[in-house]
Amino acid sequence: MLMQSPLRLPRTGRTLRNRSVLAAMTNKQSAEDGTLSPAEIQWLAHRAAGGFGIITTAATHVTPGGKSWCGEMGVWSDHHLPGLTTLANAIRAEGAVSLAQIFHGGRRAPREWTGQQPVSASDLPADDRTEATRMLSSLEVDDLVTAFVEAAVRCERAGLDGVELHGAHGYLISQFLGTKTNRRTDRWGGDLASRARFLQSIVEGIRAATAPSFLIAVRLSPVLPDVGVTLADSEALVPLVASWDIDLLHVSCWDVTVQDEDHGQTFTRRFRDALPTDVPLISTGGIWTQSDVDFVFDQGADLVGVARAGIGHADWPRQLAGGITDPKRPPFTPEHLARAALSPPFIEYMRRWKGFVTDGRA
Ligand SMILES: Cc1cc2nc3c(=O)[nH]c(=O)nc-3n(C[C@H](O)[C@H](O)[C@H](O)COP(=O)(O)O)c2cc1C
Repeated sequence: MLMQSPLRLPRTGRTLRNRSVLAAMTNKQSAEDGTLSPAEIQWLAHRAAGGFGIITTAATHVTPGGKSWCGEMGVWSDHHLPGLTTLANAIRAEGAVSLAQIFHGGRRAPREWTGQQPVSASDLPADDRTEATRMLSSLEVDDLVTAFVEAAVRCERAGLDGVELHGAHGYLISQFLGTKTNRRTDRWGGDLASRARFLQSIVEGIRAATAPSFLIAVRLSPVLPDVGVTLADSEALVPLVASWDIDLLHVSCWDVTVQDEDHGQTFTRRFRDALPTDVPLISTGGIWTQSDVDFVFDQGADLVGVARAGIGHADWPRQLAGGITDPKRPPFTPEHLARAALSPPFIEYMRRWKGFVTDGRA
């Protein structure tokens, strides 16, 4: 079965033990100062022990001003190093590769968590989720690039294998990419290559500051109507991003079966066709069963990402390898989730996800 076969990453020659990825999941278990809790380390180490090839952390902010919610993991200071080191050692001991998903919330980092007005590529009006946003000065953009690079170096010092740059879901990197949220007239705005310069500068800065073996993945959403990211732009962005010496591209589909109306093709297929063959593609969204896995490989993915299946089943890759083709689906009891190494705050958070916990949102 393809998912169980090792994958050699072309740029580094490093081999992943299989093609399953635990996608980034916010789990609200970090301390107020962004320090990892033992519960958060345990939740991820348990998935490494469960057989995943790559373990991605929750989205973790690179400056205090980029924090988007409570209990969020941070990588903006050396006081995070002990927790990150324990995490890196625990994941490596179980044979998985570790990636920290680094990000800044931009307009989605509310004053409630940062104590300051949200910032973005441009001034933006208030919406139902946040107050009006202040445009970053060009010097502040430089500083943020540096913060991303320093965060990645910190992850490397802790022994993590790499980072995933969170360019999906409407946070700061995607706010630079989108035409609705980036109306700048300086070098950080304009055509697609200029709107992508923020992401490019981060990738190049990390590459220059870390060892050649350090992995860089980039996660993108194919379409984000609110920020002005279109599929045509994403398809043009994919080969550009690939040319910056990255190791993995991750397309966040939410539902891998959805087809783009204009072409009648899935986002996985569109991304695979736009991406050079020497850059492996991770695709995530709605995968649960062996036939879902077969489908997404058939669409051209090289690695299969799961989020919710990995919450319900710490050993999801092992179950599939062992012939359980349709692992039990939600809703899960709180007791089941506790046995799967979810702490009470994480279970409480999952009660908000429709139909996931038996006594949660129906
Ligand atoms: C509890 C939870 C937290 C999530 N947090 C993040 C996150 O921090 N970063 C991110 O890129 N995506 C996040 N996602 C999205 C997942 O990575 C994934 O793309 C999405 O859930 C679809 O995959 P699934 O159908 O396998 O759950 C989260 C999803 C869930 C369920």
